[in-house]
Amino acid sequence: MPGTPPIKKKEVLNSLKDLLSKDMDPHSGRLWSYVYETGVSELRELAEESYILSLWRNMLDPTVFPSVLELEKSVVSFVAGLFGAPDTTVGNFTSGGTESNFMAVLAAREWFYAKNGRSGVPKLIAPATVHPSVIKSAWLLGVKPVLTPVDSEYKANVDELVSNVDDSTALVVLSSPNYPFGTFDPVRDVAEFLEKKNVWLHVDSCLGFAIPFARMNGRDIPLQGLNIERVDSMSVDLHKLGYAPRGSSTILYRDRDRRKNAFFVYSKWPGYPIVNQILLSSRTSGPLAASWSLIKALGVEGYKTLTRYAFDAREKLIGAMVKQGFRVEGNPPYIVLAFSHGELDLVDFSRKAGEKHWHVQVQPGSKKMGYPMTVHFTVTPVHISLVNGFARDLDEIVSETRKLSELGKDPMLEALKTVSPSEVSTAAPLIMQLLGGSGGGLEGADLSFISRYIYELDPDVVEALFREVSNALL
Ligand SMILES: Cc1ncc(COP(=O)(O)O)c(C=O)c1O
Repeated sequence: MPGTPPIKKKEVLNSLKDLLSKDMDPHSGRLWSYVYETGVSELRELAEESYILSLWRNMLDPTVFPSVLELEKSVVSFVAGLFGAPDTTVGNFTSGGTESNFMAVLAAREWFYAKNGRSGVPKLIAPATVHPSVIKSAWLLGVKPVLTPVDSEYKANVDELVSNVDDSTALVVLSSPNYPFGTFDPVRDVAEFLEKKNVWLHVDSCLGFAIPFARMNGRDIPLQGLNIERVDSMSVDLHKLGYAPRGSSTILYRDRDRRKNAFFVYSKWPGYPIVNQILLSSRTSGPLAASWSLIKALGVEGYKTLTRYAFDAREKLIGAMVKQGFRVEGNPPYIVLAFSHGELDLVDFSRKAGEKHWHVQVQPGSKKMGYPMTVHFTVTPVHISLVNGFARDLDEIVSETRKLSELGKDPMLEALKTVSPSEVSTAAPLIMQLLGGSGGGLEGADLSFISRYIYELDPDVVEALFREVSNALL
């Protein structure tokens, strides 16, 4: 090479580090959602080194990069084995839960079309707690989502769900467990109802990777997926409770016949033939390599130990929260928990926790839809070293929250209560002012009030507002 352009490596990296320093440290264990952390630095190093080693490989064509095929088969077969899937099971590594769920909806739609012809709009039926990635997939794929009520533990109400199944139903999606409350839909009951029906059954177990290990540790948690004969597909993420870096998930199908529906194959152009088993085409195999290495390094025993730490932290967390008057919603047996509180304003609670450098996610719920406002906790192994410190801080966080004077009426909120979704674009500039400036970014803005708005306002108005404001700011 005759010469390299001036690249100012140090300066560029320093600017990047400056930007990164604005974030919370994802490894600190001070976030109770968004990141899934073991707290074991050697594991993190292993994942990072594996990721970097494979970073520039392209999963587009395994004939050029044969490593990706072997790594993928190995990861898929480990996950399938954990969930007692049959020998016929096949699957693929995807970029995340959203893509895995998308593949299930696509495969089910094509399966349905193959049997019923391409006319009409196929239906997807799921309980209201299903992850929005499923609704998004339906939207993208021209499938009509029908959401059905949940019971007092936020599990699918089986009667309500199955009463919606008819000839135009392509698939049913259940969660094992769901994100908002960590509770488990009764997959076996729905599977029984669907026994003789030609309807695809997908289980979203994106949060479920720790289930098999928790069971091996003696926990009474349902194993629900391809081990149940009537289930057609399931999604399991590695980048959640498998502790792999972002971009790591699997979609598993009962057999090749079912997966065949999900392939996109194209050769009617002058370039290379496209054969895609998943939505994405070109992509790095970094996350796949990192997932593979973590599985090799930890094995079943390693994951069992980490899972035990997470559950031990769970017990301590529940004890500390209940002592402060919080209530676990839905009685979940797992490490995904939502707490409500009879008196405390949870938006203020989360803000006060933030002042003590804890990130607590508020789940706004919805007054209109009858969902309580809660705070969400996904407990991971790192929390075993921090939960006592959190419990100590909790005393102060709660008493500080109680001290906050009663808020007067928020005039903006009151005004928005009178706005219809179609009028939202006129209200958006006002919201932007509230966020701290029209052209400005979100840096430093206190966005916690948004959860109150979401709880109080009509969900259609909330969605229209998000679209307007995000489109203007991001
Ligand atoms: C149950 C469930 N399904 C799907 C998803 C979507 O996963 P991702 O964010 O990896 O796309 C999530 C994310 O939290 C989830 O909890």
